[in-house]
Amino acid sequence: MQRRLPILIGLMGAGKTHIGRLLARRLQAPFIDLDEWIVRQEGMSIPEIFERFGERGFRERETTALRELVAKPVVLATGGGVVMREENRHLLRRHPPVVWLRAEPEVLAKRIDGDANRPLIASGGTLARLEELSAVRTPLYQSCADFIVDTDMLTPEQACQSILDFLSSFEAAPGE
Ligand code: S3P
Repeated sequence: MQRRLPILIGLMGAGKTHIGRLLARRLQAPFIDLDEWIVRQEGMSIPEIFERFGERGFRERETTALRELVAKPVVLATGGGVVMREENRHLLRRHPPVVWLRAEPEVLAKRIDGDANRPLIASGGTLARLEELSAVRTPLYQSCADFIVDTDMLTPEQACQSILDFLSSFEAAPGE
């Protein structure tokens, strides 16, 4: 049986990169962060890509990267806005398991307030911005997710363990 490795989705600050690395270590699998991949491909930081090509230019690069990586045997952490495009959602749904790291905007805001590397919140008003993004994206994350982890009260290690437990049942499920 081929092991299926998870793709992590969720808002900025939900812990996709951190938990993704922990998961990859536990699963002895490679880890790729979609944003880091794009940064490497472009030779530019995320804020530079936004500044030069706009959010639209970033989203095009994000879709190109997702197309390339979605079927690879890796643990894949995506950027928070990956679910905004229909094509991306379609790609995610075709490559389960997709794990949504859910968290309340208040919790996320404390983690990432003022992070200059995140252009969508760099100008301030982090909590209000995250609330807006959460309202728009929650149904989109929901529509792609095979499993949801509520990370608010969990340490990264506990979230990782919860995903590992889900993965064993996911692999064992008949018809998978
Ligand atoms: C974005 C999230 C970021 C990055 C970009 C846009 C978003 O990734 O892709 O700044 O639209 O929510 P993280 O979720 O890893 O911060």
